[in-house]
Amino acid sequence: PRITFVSPDGTRRAVDAPDGETLMRIAVHHGVEEILGECGGACCCATCHVYLDEASMTRLLPADDMELQVLEFTAAPRRAGSRLACQVLADRRCEGLIVQLPATQI
Ligand code: FES
Repeated sequence: PRITFVSPDGTRRAVDAPDGETLMRIAVHHGVEEILGECGGACCCATCHVYLDEASMTRLLPADDMELQVLEFTAAPRRAGSRLACQVLADRRCEGLIVQLPATQI
């Protein structure tokens, strides 16, 4: 799917992501510096925090309990669209997804 990462300053980076890869790994692979992913995708560091829009949220599989717990510890404010990028898998539901990056992860 085509996924666009948007930095806090408005810089947009559109990438073609392989199915089955996490948004965190896709971002790191493409040099998106706002995503740290310190725990390597184990859902325990909250440094892969992103904001998705509400329409996209309804298309994706919802966050599970563990993700919701770790979302309590994001450095930037948690919002309705907050997700952990390591817990969102790229697939056809992500086509055209806009991923807003927070100003800080630590
Ligand atoms: Fe650590 Fe996502 S990479 S919670």
